[in-house]
Amino acid sequence: MVDKLKETVAFIKSKYTATPEIGIVLGSGLGSFTSEIKSEAEIPYSEIPHFPESTVKGHQGKLIFGELGGKKVVAMAGRFHFYEGYDTKQVIFPIRVLKFLGIKNLFLSNAAGGMNPDYKVGDLMVINDHISLFSVNPLIGKNEEAFGPRFPDMSEPYAKNLIEMAKKIAHENKIDLKEGVYVSVTGPTFETRAEYKMLRIIGGDVVGMSTVPEVIVANHMGLPAFAMSVVTDVGIREEENIITHEEVLEAAKEAEPKLSLIFKEMAARL
Ligand code: HPA
Repeated sequence: MVDKLKETVAFIKSKYTATPEIGIVLGSGLGSFTSEIKSEAEIPYSEIPHFPESTVKGHQGKLIFGELGGKKVVAMAGRFHFYEGYDTKQVIFPIRVLKFLGIKNLFLSNAAGGMNPDYKVGDLMVINDHISLFSVNPLIGKNEEAFGPRFPDMSEPYAKNLIEMAKKIAHENKIDLKEGVYVSVTGPTFETRAEYKMLRIIGGDVVGMSTVPEVIVANHMGLPAFAMSVVTDVGIREEENIITHEEVLEAAKEAEPKLSLIFKEMAARL
C-alpha cells in the first residue's frame, strides 16, 4: 500500500503542483457541485495509477483541483463503493492519497435514505456519528504505522468544530440542517421495510452505502472529517414504497445548492 501510494502521489504531483488544503468527496447525484470550484486541473481516474474506475451512474470519475472559497481544494467527483465489487482497501485508497497530497480537512457528501420520521426528501443532515454495518473494516490486515495506530479511537469520528461551523452557516443562511447518525450498509439493494425499522431502532437517522470506510481511514490518519447526507428517499412509510436510483439522483440534485453553500462557506472560514 505504501509503495502504491507513493507512486500515485508522485504521478498526481507531476500534473498539479500546488498543495490542496481540503479534500472533498462527492456523493451520488452531487457531482455538479464541482462547478463551484474554480478548476485548475482535472485528472480522470482512468489515468491515475492504482485508482479504481467509478462504475456508477451519477458519478463522474475524476479528481478536480482548484479553488473554493479562496482555498485550494481537491474534489473527488465520484467515489468507490464496496457494492461495486472493490474491496475496502480499494474503496479507501483515494482518501490516503488525498491525505498524502497534503489536505488538512476532509469533507464528504452522500445520498441517504431517511429513517427519522421528522425527515423528508431533500433534507440535508450533518452526520455527527455513525454505525458501521459495512461488512469489512478497511483497517483489517497488517497495520501501517506510517498511516496511524493499530486501534484507532472513534469517539469523535466527525470533527466537532466542523459540525459547529456548518450549523452556524446553516443558521445564518436559513437552511434547515438536520443533525444525526448515519448507518452504513453494503447495498446495492435498498433496505426492506423491516430493515429500515431495525436501523431506526438501533439509533440511525439515515442509511447509506458509503462514507463510513472513508471516515474510518481519515480517523486512522488523524485527518479531521466532516460529512453531510442528502435525504433522497424516506424508508419508513406505510404506503407504496418503491425506491429507484433515478429518484435518488433527482432528490440529490434538488438539495445540492444548500450543500454547496455550506461546503463553500466552510472552505472560506477554515
Ligand atoms: N438506503 C441505502 N442507501 C441509500 C438509500 C437508502 O434508502 N438512499 C440513498 N442511498
